[in-house]
Amino acid sequence: MSATPQNTPPGAPMISVRDLRVAFSGGDKTIRAVNGVSLDVGAGEAVALIGESGSGKSVTLRALMRLHPPRRTRMEGQVRVDGADVMSLDKQALARLRGGTVAMVFQEPLLALDPVYTVGQQIVECIRTHDKVSAAEARQRALKALESVRIPSAERRLAAYPHEMSGGMRQRAMIALALSARPKILLADEPTTALDATVQIQVLILLRELQRELGLSIVFVTHDIGAAVEIADRVAVMYGGRIVEEGPIRTIMREARHPYTIALLQSRQHGMARGQRLQTIGGAPPDLAALPPGCTFAPRCPHARPACLAEVPQPSAVGAGHRVTCVLAAEPAVATAA
Ligand SMILES: Nc1ncnc2c1ncn2[C@@H]1O[C@H](COP(=O)(O)OP(=O)(O)OP(=O)(O)O)[C@@H](O)[C@H]1O
Ligand SMILES: [Mg+2]
Repeated sequence: MSATPQNTPPGAPMISVRDLRVAFSGGDKTIRAVNGVSLDVGAGEAVALIGESGSGKSVTLRALMRLHPPRRTRMEGQVRVDGADVMSLDKQALARLRGGTVAMVFQEPLLALDPVYTVGQQIVECIRTHDKVSAAEARQRALKALESVRIPSAERRLAAYPHEMSGGMRQRAMIALALSARPKILLADEPTTALDATVQIQVLILLRELQRELGLSIVFVTHDIGAAVEIADRVAVMYGGRIVEEGPIRTIMREARHPYTIALLQSRQHGMARGQRLQTIGGAPPDLAALPPGCTFAPRCPHARPACLAEVPQPSAVGAGHRVTCVLAAEPAVATAA
């Protein structure tokens, strides 16, 4: 059944995810990539999903727009985006949501930008698909879009093909393209990872400025805590397809409570270069085809005890907006130390 995207009532989250589960079937295996994620993102709020490779960040992000191949994917739970029930939207309503209310940017802009059209043509096309405006007005808006992402000589760049631009310029052009439909929500999957450190920081600052200017809600996927600090109000730390800790970015940086978050922060402090994959925590990531019955991190956790292996812990609130999914957090002695 079609549910037309509605507007979010004041104060309600722009994105609301409850107990999201995503599993892929292939051969005789089922890969349980996301295992009960719940997350809210407010209007104008930027939330970063962080965690090491394979923790389910991208699968979660793509699930918000139901981008996984339907035949091999089982999705359960509730996803509401700007008031629309994403799980039950029909194809057309989903397409409207994807290109209109929600914009997406990914790591490699060459995949999003069409090589045979100029950057200007693509932005104009995007604007005219969403708004009935004249070609001249669309061109004017395209020019403004390039200026808003601080592309120098924007007039000239309108006529450039994607391959004629540097990596940083291309990424800016992709952001301009994504924002030209005037979305309320931006979903970004490692959009700066391929860029060198200086350009990366410039693009992050730009995204932050645009977010404030436009009041965008952002979900930003990264394995780089440094990038999360630049962009996010809040951070959700993922492990084995679950959120193990969530809170305001400053709280997480200073008072992380989950042993995995602590290990993640330490691995960075121990000389991890920006953009490098997190691989410094001892032990192997969980086998998503054979998840353990208890806490997914227990086999690698220095504090694990028998209870951790028996059942999946429930999240507990340990401070303002700060939730930890770990039996240690439920212990009064530890909880009062927060
Ligand atoms: N379409 C798919 N079919 C089967 N398995 C998949 C599919 N997409 C993702 N996976 C698996 O789901 C798990 C989570 O993948 P995901 O891409 O979300 O990780 P990630 O946290 O984004 O990692 P990275 O930092 O490397 O991008 C991985 O084991 C991945 O191989
Ligand atoms: Mg990913």
